[in-house]
Amino acid sequence: MDVKVLTEYEQSSLSQRQPLPERYLGLGLEEMERRIRAAKATLGDRLLILGHHYQRDEVLVHADVVGDSWKLSRECKARSQAEFVVFCGVHFMAESADILGADHQKVSLPDLAAGCSMADMADLDQLTTCWRELEAMGLTEGLVPVTYINSSAAIKAFVGEHGGTICTSGNARATLEWAWARGQRILFMPDQHLGRNTAWKMGVPLDQMLVWDPEEVAGGHTAEALRASRLLLWKGHCSVHTRFTVSQIANIRKQHPGIRVIVHPEVPLEVVQAADESGSTEHILKRVRESAPGSVWAVGTEIHLVNRLANEVAPGKTVVTLDQFGCLCSTMFRVSPNHLLWVLEGMIDGVVHNHIVVPEPTKHWARVALDRMLSIQ
Ligand code: 13P
Ligand code: SF4
Repeated sequence: MDVKVLTEYEQSSLSQRQPLPERYLGLGLEEMERRIRAAKATLGDRLLILGHHYQRDEVLVHADVVGDSWKLSRECKARSQAEFVVFCGVHFMAESADILGADHQKVSLPDLAAGCSMADMADLDQLTTCWRELEAMGLTEGLVPVTYINSSAAIKAFVGEHGGTICTSGNARATLEWAWARGQRILFMPDQHLGRNTAWKMGVPLDQMLVWDPEEVAGGHTAEALRASRLLLWKGHCSVHTRFTVSQIANIRKQHPGIRVIVHPEVPLEVVQAADESGSTEHILKRVRESAPGSVWAVGTEIHLVNRLANEVAPGKTVVTLDQFGCLCSTMFRVSPNHLLWVLEGMIDGVVHNHIVVPEPTKHWARVALDRMLSIQ
């Protein structure tokens, strides 16, 4: 059985995790709404609440900025005046906010258990082993490491220190262009689907891409095969987006002739091929909002975004979920209004609950990589 060795930082993050105090349980939504608004008014400009599109409505309604990973990273950097940043999203997003934010800013993640299963699929030990194996085969010369923002600060730092960068689903194509301008081969982590879908759309043949399995020696390949490749795709995936299938698309087209299907690029390649379009959460929203009146869309991404969009554009346009059972990101869902209220009232009392602090030198190198990301559009 594999035992995941936690870094000191991961261990301290987990040991900080604490159950919500009794007095924050069982509160009615109306009372929480009222108290959250009051806490926001008290904290004023000292507070910035960032919210990812996959958050539940009761939480997102309190966000000062709502966006995808790309937009929220930019906002962290741009709004450096706020003393407290509450990140309603998942752990890697709050880490990125701490890395990109100003030194005086304190970032809080309302529930420390809000992680990302994909980010957990690549750890620093595995990446270090991968790099050493490739180095032994003489394959790190001209190898550019790229990590999706859905990864730990430690992975981001490794990439920064080794001349690589970070991408989001919003700038993945530009990032691969950037990386291939600097080397002949890319190691792309941790989402094989985003890497494959982006490269395939750029016209890279599938036989130039290999999946690197961190559980296998040399990723499961011979040195010859690795040498012939241009893109090494880490064997990671999103458990939410890999639930979308080609047969769901076929069914929805039968039910709604003329429907347009748009999916997030974390879905498998055959689903992107069967859809009409793909793009980041921000891109999906833009496409549907800007489409002609009467348009009918099937959207393949997290259910909270899909439902919110459907309500927003109805009755002029129709939006349905591609998966009728609704794909929920259960870790995003862990951030509740109760957690948000607890964190905000704590700040008023001078306590930062679930304070996310990325230690040096990880922070330095991760910032190098994130700054490179922000310069690639
Ligand atoms: P976006 O960057 O498109 O918002 O996606 C983040 C994410 O976690 C998707 O699963
Ligand atoms: Fe991670 Fe997938 Fe949830 Fe996005 S939807 S945060 S990739 S588990």
